[in-house]
Amino acid sequence: ASEASSTQEHASATLTPVLTARWDQEDSFTLRGYERDGGYRALRQALQRSPESIVEAVKDSGLRGRGGAGFPAGMKWSFVPKDSPKPTYLVVNADESEPGTCKDIPLMMADPHLLVEGTIISAYAIGSNFAFIYVRGEVLHVVRRLQQAVTEAYEAGYLGRDILGSGYDIDVVVHVGAGAYICGEETALLDSLEGRRGQPRLKPPFPAVAGLYASPTIVNNVETIASVPSIVANGSSWFRLMGSEKSPGYGIFSLSGHVSRPGQYEAPLGITLNELIDMAGGIRGGRELKFWTPGGSSTPMLTAAHADLPLDFEEMVSAGTMLGTRALQIFDDSTCVVRATLRWTEFYKHESCGKCTPCREGFWWLVQILERLEKGEGTEADLDKTLDLTDNIAGRSFCALADGGVGPIDSSIQYFRDEYIAHFEHGGCPFDPAASALFA
Ligand code: NAI
Repeated sequence: ASEASSTQEHASATLTPVLTARWDQEDSFTLRGYERDGGYRALRQALQRSPESIVEAVKDSGLRGRGGAGFPAGMKWSFVPKDSPKPTYLVVNADESEPGTCKDIPLMMADPHLLVEGTIISAYAIGSNFAFIYVRGEVLHVVRRLQQAVTEAYEAGYLGRDILGSGYDIDVVVHVGAGAYICGEETALLDSLEGRRGQPRLKPPFPAVAGLYASPTIVNNVETIASVPSIVANGSSWFRLMGSEKSPGYGIFSLSGHVSRPGQYEAPLGITLNELIDMAGGIRGGRELKFWTPGGSSTPMLTAAHADLPLDFEEMVSAGTMLGTRALQIFDDSTCVVRATLRWTEFYKHESCGKCTPCREGFWWLVQILERLEKGEGTEADLDKTLDLTDNIAGRSFCALADGGVGPIDSSIQYFRDEYIAHFEHGGCPFDPAASALFA
């Protein structure tokens, strides 16, 4: 019975989404449309309250960072020193680049004012008068849309001096990156924002204490900040009605790859892959699920055996992976796992910023070996060498890029070692590459 009721809960919550509620409206991105649907009401409510009470509400809601790591947002906000002589900054990380992740970009295109309202409320809560939204360089259409929303918000008095007569001043700047994956890593992002080449900094100190211009800085993902207005408007208990105890609330799941209807599906955390695949019309062509990533390629892959696990932070860690960005890349049984892993590794080789030797050199060597394995020219010793290399990369670099990059390699060998062996026994790829358009 509990299984049935949880499925029902998922279905109804999916039918009443929050972040994606307005995406189908023709004027969803305009100020007029946003205000008509109750937009900026949460801001008015927030300005009547103390900043501390907003931090408490976000803490009580249990909202965890939606950029991938899942760090409790309210707790992060409470790390901002109260007595700093320096200004406090809010930086919204809109540099979405994780392979398969496509939630922040559609959110900003469809409902940019939701992000602007969340940014103002969050800045108010942490005592900041200056916020940046750092947008990925390749998505100029998103930058234009967001900039338009910011301009409208200034004209309407939601941004600027003494907003809505509250005595609170807030400026928001939309900053455009130059299209480097590493700049989504929060400290590299801050270097880039300061006008330098984006490379990760050693943590601690964490940005909450010493971030932009060495000042206290809260860096949060787009979806995290966009969730704040609904928590302020509806309360933290409302938020906790969805999801699980330690992973409350809802989130956008991006389904890509071999499903009939790829796209964004908003659902409570804890929904399963099988439930999402059903919503997406099943595996395309009636084929079988072979492997998938819970949060893009930086989270170790899982197999069909894991498709009924709740997609929340704890369960994914128990399964040996991470929830990450909820970028569900789905591969059917026509896909060569070695080829997919090679493609991902080429991505990390290309995007490594080069600061740390294990990452810079390691991915270069891993591509050489995986190319050999994929062509059927490898040996069993190559598999051992691969695992030795990944073991010497993970945990030995400044940032999570290196750890993320070895995830697909280790997990693909863990689950599909036989398929690697079949490549060199077969003298080539046992799969017809044409059958897998994704990697052709
Ligand atoms: P992290 O766990 O080091 O940090 C998460 C957040 O919590 C950061 O803002 C950090 O400053 C803060 N934090 C952690 N411990 C803290 C402490 N003791 N005091 C104050 N603040 C603290 O994870 P990281 O490296 O920021 O992110 C890794 C995740 O990023 C991965 O899980 C991956 O899923 C995700 N990712 C997302 C991408 C995207 O396009 N959205 C791209 C690549 C990776």
